[in-house]
This record gives sequence, C-alpha cells and structure tokens, in this order.
Amino acid sequence: MTEQNFIPKPFAKTVENGSYTWSSPSNIALVKYWGKKEDQIPENPSISFTLNNCKTTTTLSFVKKKTTNDFSFDVFLDGEKKDDFKPKIATFFKRIEIYLPFLKDYHFKIETSNTFPHSSGIASSASGMSALALCLMSVEKEFLEDISEDYFNQKASFLARLGSGSACRSIEGDLIVWGTHKEINKSSNLFGIKYPFSVHENFKHYQDTILLVDKGEKQVSSTVGHNLMHKHPFAERRFEQAHENMSKLISIFETGDLDAFIKIVESEALTLHAMMMTSMPYFILMKPNTLEIINKIWTYRAQTNSKICFTLDAGANVHVLYPENEKESVVEFIKNELVAFCQNEHYISDQIGFGANQIQL
Ligand code: DP6
Repeated sequence: MTEQNFIPKPFAKTVENGSYTWSSPSNIALVKYWGKKEDQIPENPSISFTLNNCKTTTTLSFVKKKTTNDFSFDVFLDGEKKDDFKPKIATFFKRIEIYLPFLKDYHFKIETSNTFPHSSGIASSASGMSALALCLMSVEKEFLEDISEDYFNQKASFLARLGSGSACRSIEGDLIVWGTHKEINKSSNLFGIKYPFSVHENFKHYQDTILLVDKGEKQVSSTVGHNLMHKHPFAERRFEQAHENMSKLISIFETGDLDAFIKIVESEALTLHAMMMTSMPYFILMKPNTLEIINKIWTYRAQTNSKICFTLDAGANVHVLYPENEKESVVEFIKNELVAFCQNEHYISDQIGFGANQIQL
C-alpha cells in the first residue's frame, strides 16, 4: 500500500448536497507516538486502546458551490461558531485535497460536540479528526458507491492521520497499531490496523479512569512537541526502544502477564515526559499533583498487589488503567485517595471499547 492507492479514480457522478454524522472515540496510547517525519509519518510504531465513552460526534453538511478556487467551511462546537478551529482544518483540507478531489467544490458546515468537556485537557484531536475523516469518506462513497468497507475504514484512518497522527488509531477496533513493526505483518506508517494477534482475557474491558489534574490549554502543542524530537540527543535510541516495547507487548498480550504490562506502560509514559524534559527548549508537563497521584498508585499497588497502573498524555492528566475484575476496589481507592488531587475533583470513568467504536448516526 502506498499513498497512490488512496487517490480515487475520476468520479462519474455529481452530488448537489448532503449531510452525514459520525461518532468516533478517543484513544490512549500504550506505546507512544512521539516524533514524526514529513507528511505525518511516525518515527516509531505505537499501539493504543480505544476508549468507549470519550467521543466526538460530528455532522458534516455540504452544498455545491459555484466557484472551486478555494476551500469553504464553517466550524461549530456545541452550536457555537469556532473560527479558532479553522486553521487546523484548513491545513487538514490542504493535506488531503489530492485524495478527496471534491473538497473545493462544496461549502461544508462542520458541527461537532464532545462527550467530555472541551476544556478538560483531554485531547479531542484524535476523536475529532477521526469523526471528520469518517464523514468525508461518506461523501466520497456518494461518488464511488462500490468501495468496500475495508477500503472505507483504511482510507478514513489514512485521512485522519493527516489531520492528527493519533486520530488514525480511532477508526476501527479496540486495540490499534500504527507504524511499521517487523513482527506485525500488515502494519503501516500510513494508517492504523487492528492488532492482529491474540489478546488474553485479562485485557478485556480494561478500565481507564482519567484524572483531570489540569484542565487548562495544552502548554505545548503536540506539533511543537513532535518537532522537539528532531535533533533530540536521545531520539534514535528512543525510537528503537518503542520497537522493542512493541515486541514485548506482543507476548504480554498473549500470556496476560499484567506485571510485565505495567512495566512497559508506565515506562512509556515516563519516557514520553523524559523526552520533553531533555529536549531544547525543555518542558515539564507534569504538575505536582501528577506526581502525588503516581506515588499514591505505587503505594497502593505495593500494599494490595493490585494491577493498577498509570499512563500519561503530553500533559498533566493521569490515565489510571486497571483490569475489570478490580473495578470496585480501585474505584473506591480513586475516590478516597486520588480525586482530591484533581482540579475541582473532576475525573472521567471510561473503559476500553470492545466493539463500541465509531458509529454512523
Ligand atoms: C502524546 O496525534 O496529537 O498523545 O500528529 O501533531 O496531531 P499530531 O500529534 P498527536 O500526538 C499525540 C501524542 C501522544 C501519544 C500518542 O497518542 O501516541
């Protein structure tokens, strides 16, 4: 598969107007994507759990316009016009125009809403860009009725990647790999694929409670963050390590070894932050309460033999991961000991979406 496969044949049909709605989930990476080349090509493979409750729903309405010289669109979040979202979408449209040659023929209205608060510090780019990519694929399907479901999903992931890298992992399935890895046959830098090997019962319905430590705007945008990996003194070794961690996860998923899982997941989270602390310029994205929570989790694990662990995005919030059979006790622990470290005691309960992924509404 190359980029060329996603350039459609000339359309035989015309379409005047229409509207599509898709709902798409966010995801949380276990092996992190951090560092990219030109054209949103990742420096290393990553793997993520797809979430069940954190979703974006987007309606894309389109009307044919008279002129075709430029893109034309408006964006609304919860019914309110959002001109500050436009530059990111304009960049997205520019990147994907060659793959969706009808983009300049229409005026688009993009109406979007999230199940999680926009100001929560939870990245909405993965769910947002994947929902938009799915809507755009529905438009393409109007022109090319014979496209298969596989092609539809693969191209949706391919397009979503060009909007935001991690968004390509939000199209299909519960455990998604993006980026080529020697042991994963069909893995690709161009789109996400469903994890192809067996996954132990221990990982079914895995729980993720997101502790909102800092609900502010991101201190460092992900684009700036990824760029910091260029000329980073530890970059090459880090990219190799991601490959090694993916290999280790393959046997961990097979055997259900939760202790080994914890080591990889926590190490990946801290490595992501270590990369930011050792780049130039350097950043500390954790807050004191992030560390308080991590220490509490470690103490609880040592005392109770729980399989609880944490992972982090490029920010201060903490994702607390734990097996479903510990749900009752861990939720109790979170409420009693961790929620106090969250901004306004705010947290979001989620779980890995086994089956409940993107939906056309
Ligand atoms: C830390 O996908 O937001 O969440 O491609 O620039 O839009 P862009 O970056 P983005 O990066 C996410 C990075 C991460 C780790 C991960 O999800 O793998």
